[in-house]
Formats: sequence, C-alpha cells, structure tokens
Amino acid sequence: MDYLNKIFHGDCVDILRDFPDNSVDLIFTSPPYADQRSNTYGGIKPDEYVAWFMPRAEQFYRVLKPTGTFILNIKERVVNGERHTYVIELILEMRKSGWLWTEEFMWHKKNSYPGKWPNRFRDSWERLIQFNKEKNFHMYQDTVMVPVGDWAQSRLSNLSETDQARDESKVGSGFGKNISNWLGRDMVYPTNVIHMATECGNRGHSAAFPEELPSWFIKLFTKELDVVLDPFVGSGTTPVAAIQLNRKYIGIDVLEEYCIKSEERISRCQIPLFSIAEKNELNEYRPNSPARGEKER
Ligand SMILES: C[S@@+](CC[C@H](N)C(=O)[O-])C[C@H]1O[C@@H](n2cnc3c(N)ncnc32)[C@H](O)[C@@H]1O
Repeated sequence: MDYLNKIFHGDCVDILRDFPDNSVDLIFTSPPYADQRSNTYGGIKPDEYVAWFMPRAEQFYRVLKPTGTFILNIKERVVNGERHTYVIELILEMRKSGWLWTEEFMWHKKNSYPGKWPNRFRDSWERLIQFNKEKNFHMYQDTVMVPVGDWAQSRLSNLSETDQARDESKVGSGFGKNISNWLGRDMVYPTNVIHMATECGNRGHSAAFPEELPSWFIKLFTKELDVVLDPFVGSGTTPVAAIQLNRKYIGIDVLEEYCIKSEERISRCQIPLFSIAEKNELNEYRPNSPARGEKER
C-alpha cells in the first residue's frame, strides 16, 4: 500500500486499520477537544472521551515503531466550574493498555490576551503529553538546543567554589547542578516548557496550532525521511512542518473540507521547496556557474 505523503479522508480508526504495524516514527496530533467546537466538527462528551479515544489509541500503538513517540496536544476543559478529569483518566487508561507516559511538555501560549472570569484566570497553556511503547525511543536532543541566554554572562563570570563542583540540593530533593559545566557554552538544552505564540494567521481551521509546534517535536524525535503521522490533521499543519524538515507525512481527517484544505496548503508549501531543489540541482550540474552578481564570461 502506497500510504506515504498523502492525506486520507475518514475516521482515523478505520483508515489506520490498513496501515502496516510498526511503520511510523512520530505521531503528533491535536484531537478534537471534548464537547468543544461542536458547531464546526462535532464534539465528544467529556464523560465519553476516554471510551471514544481508546480504540484510536490502539491503532496508534500498532502503527508506531517501538522506537517512536506519540505526542498528544490536549487540555481538559472546565465543566460545571471545575476542570474535567478526562485527560487524567485518558493517561491512566493508556498506561493500562501498554503505553508508557514518558513525559509531559507544557506549551505556554505567550500571546494570550488578558481576560476576566470570576473564579479563574486566562488559560494560557496546553499539555503535550508524550507516550512511548518502549523506554528506549529515538530522541535527537541537540536539534532543539537554545542559546544559553544573558544570565550566563554575569552568573558564569565569577564562579564560587561550590559552583566548580557538583552542588547537591540543600533541601534533599536529590537534584544537583554543576554550574561550571556550562562555562564556554553558547547553546544549552531547553526545558520542558515551550514558549510559543498561538497561530494568528487564518489557516481555515478554528483550532490550528502554529507550525513551530510540530516542527519542534519533529526535530526532537525524528531524523530526515522518517515518517510523521497526524491522525486528526485539520488544516495540515503537521504535514507542512514535516515536509519543510524533509520528513514523510501521513494526514487523516474525518471532514473532507479539511482534507482539501490540507492538500492545498501542502501544495503551496511544496512549490517553493521544489524550486529551491531545482535550483540546487541546476547548480550541481553547473559547478562553475558564476556567483550572484558576477558576470558570465
Ligand atoms: C483540533 S483539530 C486539529 C487541528 C490541526 N492541528 C491544525 O493545525 O489545523 C482536530 C481535527 O480532528 C478531526 N477529527 C475529528 N474526529 C476525527 C476522527 N475520528 N478521525 C479523523 N479526524 C477527526 C476534525 O475534523 C478536526 O479537523
């Protein structure tokens, strides 16, 4: 079955049944949130969310490679004045069915505007829950390193004696640090809090996430030509990010209009990439071609 670099129309639980076992390197997705946006693509009742999700998670488990990762972008909604527990219940259920709940990242939506509610503040973050099949999964940490930041100049310029050896936590937390390890480094590893603005452009989807979000995880958990699946693909953000990073993609959406939007977006992003590739190819065949601004003799 030729299933790569395609958008499929249908319920992901049905579409994925035809896919081979252990064939996907990363599943990155934002599923329909419980009972939200029912006017656009149908909500699932919060109390029924886990039962709805689990047959789909079973297919995700089957198609994911043992070295692969599943990142689920989700956030529990408020029901009757309190946070519903379906995300917590889902994590427990996923663990029961064999998934490892390896990590949780927080997406801090840094452009949230202020609001006023009687009993809470503006919700400005979402969960990105990491599940794996095995403890030894592929992770390419160096690809998401960040500049060390201004703090380093003043902090590292005058190291105390404690800074030059491993400093164990004084409160007995078991954590320690060796500040001198960071001397002379420009780049460091990020934390599990990701600061990114929400999608502001009109992608033709009410819940599109920004391209940088899948890009960050694609870089972290895959290498070039690996396969990235988004089973709730919406406007095609994950495939676009995958293409730009030279990964293969699979997208699925139950609504045809989103499949069409995804395909349109993919073809728009492929044209500039092809023209770059074509130019590179031309340059390869003309190694002595003049540099920009230089006249051909
Ligand atoms: C939160 S949106 C995804 C938005 C996407 N991340 C983007 O950037 O555009 C969830 C999508 O899941 C689709 N969907 C809902 N139930 C589905 C199912 N059973 N199988 C496949 N897609 C489904 C919806 O039509 C919707 O487009």
